[in-house]
Amino acid sequence: GPVVVVYGGSSAEREVSLKSGAAVLAALKRQGVAAVGYDPQEGGLVGLEALAPSAVFIALHGRGGEDGTLQGALELLGIPYTGSGVLASALGMDKQRTKQVWQALGLPTPESIMLAPDTEWAAVASQLGFPLVVKPVHEGSTLGISIVRSEAELEAAYRDAATFDTQIMAERFVAGEEYTVTLLGETVLPVIRVEVPGGFYDYAAKYLSNTTQYHLPCGLDEVDERALSALCQQAFAAMGGRGWGRVDVMRDAEGSFWLLEVNTVPGMTDHSLVPQAAAHAGIDFDELVVRILATAES
Ligand code: DAL
Ligand code: MG
Repeated sequence: GPVVVVYGGSSAEREVSLKSGAAVLAALKRQGVAAVGYDPQEGGLVGLEALAPSAVFIALHGRGGEDGTLQGALELLGIPYTGSGVLASALGMDKQRTKQVWQALGLPTPESIMLAPDTEWAAVASQLGFPLVVKPVHEGSTLGISIVRSEAELEAAYRDAATFDTQIMAERFVAGEEYTVTLLGETVLPVIRVEVPGGFYDYAAKYLSNTTQYHLPCGLDEVDERALSALCQQAFAAMGGRGWGRVDVMRDAEGSFWLLEVNTVPGMTDHSLVPQAAAHAGIDFDELVVRILATAES
């Protein structure tokens, strides 16, 4: 059977996934791989199985694709797939539990607390200070995330996040520089520093803006870049990540790194970070896609 690129899906990141998947599919075809695209929103798992895939390239973002559910189904069907397995995928989709794993291992990640409708906002404020960040626990592409600067803004931020998820967290805000680190097999690709004129690398800055700056080389000295790369390898290994992934990190004013999250199916759009990191390492988009596909068999 063909290599099936699974993309689209029904998560809030559907539009991003359609772009990632289309780019991946085109690359595989250019490389002479017998590949077809498949949107599970249209035919579900049954339709996917009917294609008798030799392997599945997972280009779904968010719940129902990046979160371990599809990975589990493919395990049961005996179909090889790209990227992380069931556990790491599920963990990566849960920002709070990812933190708990890192904290247990002594890896640095900003303090956070879970929010509920009856949470006392004053207690959240006194524990985390302002600004703080309110996030849906299981979401991607910065959807539903607010930077909150006063107690008066907390309730609205919570409500907005709650339109995306039933579990909402508040996280201490790290002021400083934003970095992202791509892991490809055993390799760490060059670190990127992301700089947004508006200061917040949100959905628009990620996919729509032409003013977001991607610094490659990232500007860290060699010692710091090596330390950051090693930290991200540790962070990915801690959650059992496999194949490829991207770790997002903040660096505070004192130069300390703080792990934010892992993306087990990073974006592959023409604005996305992983293809840029690969290009800087001399790996063009087609080669990147072929190398990710190869992780399905390992
Ligand atoms: N969740 C998006 C696709 C990313 O991390 O690139
Ligand atoms: Mg993410």
